[in-house]
Amino acid sequence: MIDSKTIESIGTPFYVFDIDVLKNRINYLKSMMPENVHLCFAMKANPFVVKEIEDTIEKYEICSYGEWNIANVLDVAHEKMVISGVYKDEDSMIDIINHYKHGEVITIESLNQIKLVDKITKDKNIVVDVILRLTSGNQFGMSEEEIISILENRSKYNFLNIMGIQYFSGTQKKLSRRIIKELEYVDDFVQKLKNELGFVTEELEFGPGFPVMYFEAETDFDENTYLMEIADKIKNLKYQGHITMELGRSIAASCGSYYTKVVDKKTNKEGNFAILDGGMHHIVYYGQMMAMKKPMLDIIPRRSGNEENWNLVGALCTINDLIVKGLPVNGLELGDVFVFKNTGAYAMTEGISLFLSRDLPKVLFVKDGKIEVVRSNIQTYKLNMPFKGGEN
Ligand SMILES: Cc1ncc(COP(=O)(O)O)c(C=O)c1O
Repeated sequence: MIDSKTIESIGTPFYVFDIDVLKNRINYLKSMMPENVHLCFAMKANPFVVKEIEDTIEKYEICSYGEWNIANVLDVAHEKMVISGVYKDEDSMIDIINHYKHGEVITIESLNQIKLVDKITKDKNIVVDVILRLTSGNQFGMSEEEIISILENRSKYNFLNIMGIQYFSGTQKKLSRRIIKELEYVDDFVQKLKNELGFVTEELEFGPGFPVMYFEAETDFDENTYLMEIADKIKNLKYQGHITMELGRSIAASCGSYYTKVVDKKTNKEGNFAILDGGMHHIVYYGQMMAMKKPMLDIIPRRSGNEENWNLVGALCTINDLIVKGLPVNGLELGDVFVFKNTGAYAMTEGISLFLSRDLPKVLFVKDGKIEVVRSNIQTYKLNMPFKGGEN
C-alpha cells in the first residue's frame, strides 16, 4: 500500500498497478495450466500494463483500431498480436494489413469480415493468418454452418491461412463445469471439422472467462481446485494442439488499486454521505448491485473512533454515483483515503469518464519497489469541448 505522504504528494484520485503482483499472477496461472496452453492478455482489461508483461505473455488480444494503435506505440511485437473485434472497418483493416509483418492473427467474426479481409489481402498481395470465431449464441462470431461453409471453400482464400477456431462466451464464470462444458463443445466441433472436412485445427484460441472475487462476501471460491479441474479437462481433450487462452480480468484485476479521498461529509435524514474526489466515472465493479455489496477495500488511516455507516458517493451530479452503501467506518474524517482493491482490470476503462467533464484519474506503477507516474492529469473537458471550425 502507498503511504499517506506519497498519496498526498501525488494527489488523488489515482490507480496504481503493481507490476510484481501482475507478473506473479501470470506465472501462477501458467503454472496451473498444461504445457500446450499459452496465455493471451485481452488488453481491453488494462492497456497500461501491456508492455510490462511482454516477456511473460505469448499474445495480446487487440479488439479495436484504438488498441492496435496503443500496441504499436508501445512497440509490441507483431507476432504477439491477435487482431479481433466484432466490428472491423475497411480503413482500419487496410492500415493494419499494410503494417502486417509475420505472425499477427486476425479473427474472422462474420461472412462480411472474411470478404473484407480476403479483398484487402488480395489487393495487397499479403498472406495473413486468420482464425474463425465460433459464436456462443450472440452477436459475436459465426454459426457452425457459416464456419463449415467457409472451410468447404477454403481453397478459394489464397491469401488467408486459416489456422483454427476462436471461442469466447463471456466473463466471470464461477463454475468450472460451465467452462468444462464449453471446452467439450469446442473440442467436438474441432473433431467434426477434421472428420467431415479434413480441416486440421492448428490453433484453438479459447477465452474461459475466469472469475475474480471483488466483494467481501465472496469467500467460498477455491481457485486452485477450480483451475485444476479445468486443466484436467484440457489434458483430456481430443484436441491436443496449441491452445491460446485469452484472459483479461483474471490476469490483471489483482494488481490494481484505486485511491480516492473524502472531500466532503454530510448527514441528512437519508444517512451519512462521504463525498469522494473520484466516483463511478472512474471505477466500475462487475457484479456490484446498487452499491449494496462491499468491495474489498482499505482506509488510510485506520481510525479508532465510533463506527458509523457511510454512503460513499462520487463527484458526479447523479444520485447513481454511489460506490458503496452503508459502509461501517470508524471515525471517518475529511481527507481519509479509500483504497479499492482488485481494480486492475476493466474497473478503470469501463467508467463513463466523460460525464461531468472531470479529470481522469492518474495512473501509477509500483515497480521494483519504486513508484512511477505513467499518466498524469488528463482533463476530459478538452474532449467534451464543441468543435470550432478550423481547429485540429
Ligand atoms: C474475445 C474476448 N476474449 C477475451 C476476453 C477477456 O475476458 P475476461 O476478462 O473475462 O478474461 C474478452 C472480454 O470481453 C473478449 O471479448
